Amino acid sequence: MKILGTGSALPKKIVTNDMLSEFLDTSDEWIVPRTGIRSRHIISDEKIEDLGAQAALSALEMSGLKPEDIDYCICSNVVSEYVTPGLSCVIGAKIGLKCPCIDINCACPGFIYALDIAETHYIAGKVRNVLIICAEQPTRMCDWTDRSTCVLFGDGAGAVVLGPGSNVKGIKLHSQLDATKIWERNSLMPTPYYEGDNRAIGLQMNGREVFKFAVKASTSDVEDLLNELGMTKDQVDWYIVHQANYRIIDAIKQYLGEPDGKFPINISDHGNSSSASCTILLDECNKSHMFKEGNTLVFSAFGAGLLSGVAVLEW
Ligand code: UT7
Repeated sequence: MKILGTGSALPKKIVTNDMLSEFLDTSDEWIVPRTGIRSRHIISDEKIEDLGAQAALSALEMSGLKPEDIDYCICSNVVSEYVTPGLSCVIGAKIGLKCPCIDINCACPGFIYALDIAETHYIAGKVRNVLIICAEQPTRMCDWTDRSTCVLFGDGAGAVVLGPGSNVKGIKLHSQLDATKIWERNSLMPTPYYEGDNRAIGLQMNGREVFKFAVKASTSDVEDLLNELGMTKDQVDWYIVHQANYRIIDAIKQYLGEPDGKFPINISDHGNSSSASCTILLDECNKSHMFKEGNTLVFSAFGAGLLSGVAVLEW
């Protein structure tokens, strides 16, 4: 498979660190050195399905394909207002897709898990054109009285249109399952019979443990996959790393021994937009003509699960 088009869409409301410190015991001086985040886009009067649709239409336009040309749509999403149908169906109906649609919830590495599913369908000869949409609103998961989490996130959507080709060199997925490090609990409808606790609990995270997992998993994912492919780091032109925290990306860079210039960054004005982050960064780099034909791109992402994944693609 091969990337034919990219797209992204962001909410219009931009919230700076100073705006957060108007109602939270936090500051720009605390947030910037620990995370690299200065501002983030936050959903206010938009719907995540509209941002997903906008990103998908933009990727379709770049690919030269029409919605009816898509054979399969995968949407990576952690929360939406719809429990059913899946967000892929909601977005698909908006943009006029005519194909099967599935949702996945693999948290921040969702784009790489979606690429892996798409690749499997290509190998099986079942698809020609695939649309991946990563549409995320982690700000709707946070407890906005908890300064240790809500300052980290931003919302948005990114999309990729895939067509036939042999540009994916390899994909490797990894898990270290532990549902206690990042989680959020939903409230479901009450019934006359259910006797358990039904309270929603906003996002809970052990930041230090997740930080360590992220750096270790990303570094070993990248090194293991490059080794398996018989490639060296010299052959890598760009690392598109999940934009969770600038310090995480910096540590990965140090462990890999790779230069700053290979790591495009947009965390400063986006925050962590979960699985949308890699696709938004990809689209921004693509639209600024950063990639040359034949460049090698390495995608690496990590998050709740705990899950991580890496993909090596030729542009
Ligand atoms: O997609 C993956 C998602 N998750 C992540 O990427 C998170 C990975 N982890 C991290 O990025 C870092 O662990 C954080 C940025 C979340 C936290 O940085 P830290 O250096 O690990 O800080 P900490 O949690 O150990 O907190 C240090 C202090 C605490 O105060 P005390 O107990 O030392 O008095 C916190 O209460 O900083 C305090 N603190 C804050 N202060 C001002 C925590 N959040 C804030 C805040 N503003 N927003």
